[in-house]
Amino acid sequence: MLDPGGKRSGAGAGRDRAPGDRGEAANAAGPLPLDRPPGEIAGMFDAIARRYDLLNRLLSAGRDRAWRARAVDALGLQGGERVLDLCTGTADLALALASPRGGAGCVVGVDFSAEMLRLGRVKTARRRPAGAVRLLRADAERIPLCDAAVDGATIGFGIRNVRDRIGALAEVRRVLRPGGRLAILEFGEPGPAPVRAMYRWYFHHLLPLVGRLGSRHRSAYAYLPASVGAFPAPPAFCELLGRAGFTDVRVDPLTFGIVYLYSARA
Ligand SMILES: C[S@@+](CC[C@H](N)C(=O)[O-])C[C@H]1O[C@@H](n2cnc3c(N)ncnc32)[C@H](O)[C@@H]1O
Repeated sequence: MLDPGGKRSGAGAGRDRAPGDRGEAANAAGPLPLDRPPGEIAGMFDAIARRYDLLNRLLSAGRDRAWRARAVDALGLQGGERVLDLCTGTADLALALASPRGGAGCVVGVDFSAEMLRLGRVKTARRRPAGAVRLLRADAERIPLCDAAVDGATIGFGIRNVRDRIGALAEVRRVLRPGGRLAILEFGEPGPAPVRAMYRWYFHHLLPLVGRLGSRHRSAYAYLPASVGAFPAPPAFCELLGRAGFTDVRVDPLTFGIVYLYSARA
């Protein structure tokens, strides 16, 4: 199953850009570069790792667990399957997949932030999930698994940060067995206008402030709304999944569209 070198699939390599994505967005402290080198993104997650779970619970008002549960359900696991959780962070989605309810027999979590993974390992040791969880440090654009190594794959709130999204999605398709399912969670914009207006204020003002105070990181929680703003809208991201070779692509809004659940088949 493991392939330490990882492989690049030829399909669809290259940068995708949402219309109007200039690679940077304005924030209170001036321009916030979104086109950061991978080492800088990993360093940012290293720096906020210790407060990441707490801030997740707080800033999502506890909804993050329900969103991850929906991604687990979308894989339709029967029990005992091998699953990849890409951009696993502190392994919450990996743990949900390997729980008795999730049903995975073995989960490989991949992330490039050493500190997020260190905290994930503490959690997997403490919680003793029903399935085995293994955490590997690697870039999403070079997944260290063999072709068709897994039956299902998830990406929770991580694809937004990846530079070459089509390249990473093509990598996920490479390591999925034909017909295997992919479930992706990513932030979006709520559909109903009154909710959208309130949410915009929260997401662009309150969240960066609480995030900055909670994480003691100057820009990580300003990067979040900026990176969500630069992420393709749901129809464009569905198209991207198709360009990476996935079929049966669908998207479901969760919590008024604050989050979108994308699912597809390899
Ligand atoms: C917002 S966190 C999400 C963590 C987790 N999936 C969750 O649901 O809470 C995004 C994670 O993606 C990881 N990440 C971002 N870009 C990556 C890349 N190119 N390769 C590997 N990991 C990446 C970051 O290190 C971080 O841990």
